Amino acid sequence: MNQNMPTQLVIGCFIALSCAPWWVYSQNGDNRTLVNMTLVRNASVLGAYCLDGSLPAYHLDRGFGAGARNWLLQFEGGGWCNDIPSCLERAKTHRGSTRFMNKLEVFSGILSNNASLNPDFYNWNRVKLRYCDGASFAGDAKFDNGTSLLYFRGQRIWRAIIQDLLPKGLGQARKALLSGCSAGGLASFLHCDNLTNYLPKNTSVKCLSDAGFFLDERDISLNHSMRSFYESLISLHGVEQNLDKSCTGFRYYPAQCFFPQYALKYIRTPFFVLNSAYDVYQFHHILVPPSADPKGHWYHCKLNPAACNAAQIRILQGFRKDMLLALSFFYRHSRRGGMFINSCFAHCQSESQETWFAADSPRVNNKTIAEAVGDWYFGRRVSKEIDCAYNCDHTCANLIG
Ligand SMILES: *[C@@H]1O[C@H](CO)[C@@H](O)[C@H](O)[C@H]1NC(C)=O
Ligand SMILES: *[C@@H]1O[C@H](CO)[C@@H](O)[C@H](O)[C@H]1NC(C)=O
Ligand SMILES: *[C@@H]1O[C@H](CO)[C@@H](O)[C@H](O)[C@H]1NC(C)=O
Ligand SMILES: *[C@@H]1O[C@H](CO)[C@@H](O)[C@H](O)[C@H]1NC(C)=O
Ligand SMILES: *[C@@H]1O[C@H](CO)[C@@H](O)[C@H](O)[C@H]1NC(C)=O
Ligand SMILES: *[C@@H]1O[C@H](CO)[C@@H](O)[C@H](O)[C@H]1NC(C)=O
Ligand SMILES: *[C@@H]1O[C@H](CO)[C@@H](O)[C@H](O)[C@H]1NC(C)=O
Ligand SMILES: *[C@@H]1O[C@H](CO)[C@@H](O)[C@H](O)[C@H]1NC(C)=O
Ligand SMILES: *[C@@H]1O[C@H](CO)[C@@H](O)[C@H](O)[C@H]1NC(C)=O
Repeated sequence: MNQNMPTQLVIGCFIALSCAPWWVYSQNGDNRTLVNMTLVRNASVLGAYCLDGSLPAYHLDRGFGAGARNWLLQFEGGGWCNDIPSCLERAKTHRGSTRFMNKLEVFSGILSNNASLNPDFYNWNRVKLRYCDGASFAGDAKFDNGTSLLYFRGQRIWRAIIQDLLPKGLGQARKALLSGCSAGGLASFLHCDNLTNYLPKNTSVKCLSDAGFFLDERDISLNHSMRSFYESLISLHGVEQNLDKSCTGFRYYPAQCFFPQYALKYIRTPFFVLNSAYDVYQFHHILVPPSADPKGHWYHCKLNPAACNAAQIRILQGFRKDMLLALSFFYRHSRRGGMFINSCFAHCQSESQETWFAADSPRVNNKTIAEAVGDWYFGRRVSKEIDCAYNCDHTCANLIG
């Protein structure tokens, strides 16, 4: 077990509303879109199982009108497990088994089917790929010691879901967008080019990562906590064989190619990086993990940026600087790329309506995230937005709670 990190990094409800379907119900009344789960029955042929051996699943809401042949595929997020005890725990929950998942999912934000809430993608086929492998859909291994059995089959789950969707219309897609948030945003980096292999050459394929740009950064005690965490994850789940060969061939540590900052320059498909420079998950688990702050000096600052002292703000500004540095090559040289790096304390901004597209949504240069992503996808204009440093952005809610 890794001492520096909680063994199972589960994304909490950092933005109070982002994981609260009741809010969607109460706001939209009867307008809420609930989408049924589809189990991938053929997955057993491919040996594609969730941690506990259950079948993988997705939710599909059909496109219509002009969007009927366009496909948005969104990876669900939800942390990772990096050792046997934490994966065994996870296998008993909705993060490791479709048996424990809600069968109806609320589709909001980028998944909404309402043109006034999701102007560019509302009429596309929209799919949520459920996350139950614990390694961003990238592992391929199995643990079986006679008494305990765990499947690390994320890569096969990815393949099984795509193969299930191809005959349902994905195989004739005109346009496709692969997206995902957090661990799902990381999956979007890892599988972006692979999606193009399954689709016709003339399909326009692009990828978006929301809050998936996890930095290879030291924590405040100067430990490489995140790097150690990923190294144990990669070795447990058998991820290395599935990483981009053009990246692993060049890197000193092949495992580095799990970090988007190294993998990004090898991705050939047009990519959009959406992330807060003060991503709350990275703040709490990469920059200031509990192991690095045993006395709790950061307790109040973690709950509310306004409570951070000057030294803490300097450290947070340093983190932002490092993120922008890691993206500077992409910013300057990627002609078909897009980005939206804002300065709100947030985590996952494409899935909830109030951060994606609403009157009081976060904005950079007066553009909402939905507008920036749409402008990039459809080539309406260059869409590379970088916010000014905290605390200049007055469109942020900065709800960490
Ligand atoms: C959808 O919600 C709006 C308010 O948000 C309401 O005015 C409208 O009547 C609802 N439509 C349906 C079909 O329920
Ligand atoms: C779409 O959302 C708007 C704004 O919330 C609402 O007024 C409208 O009723 C919704 N339309 C449908 C078809 O649900
Ligand atoms: C979801 O699917 C189940 C089984 O096919 C069905 O009984 C149920 O009515 C569906 N629910 C909705 C909201 O479509
Ligand atoms: C499942 O696999 C069988 C055999 O490979 C194939 O004939 C069938 O069409 C598949 N079903 C689905 C729903 O993909
Ligand atoms: C198998 O692994 C589990 C979890 O690590 C452990 O509790 C159990 O004792 C192991 N069984 C054997 C036979 O080694
Ligand atoms: C791609 O080519 C196929 C076959 O030539 C054609 O049917 C399809 O409409 C084309 N799709 C796009 C997006 O141009
Ligand atoms: C990617 O896609 C192809 C399908 O053409 C598959 O055969 C290949 O093994 C996939 N996986 C990786 C890691 O490249
Ligand atoms: C830093 O990492 C080392 C080696 O993994 C470990 O022994 C030490 O306890 C860590 N320190 C903190 C503060 O986490
Ligand atoms: C910002 O955009 C909104 C429309 O989204 C527009 O009404 C407003 O005038 C713009 N503000 C500025 C300062 O350009």
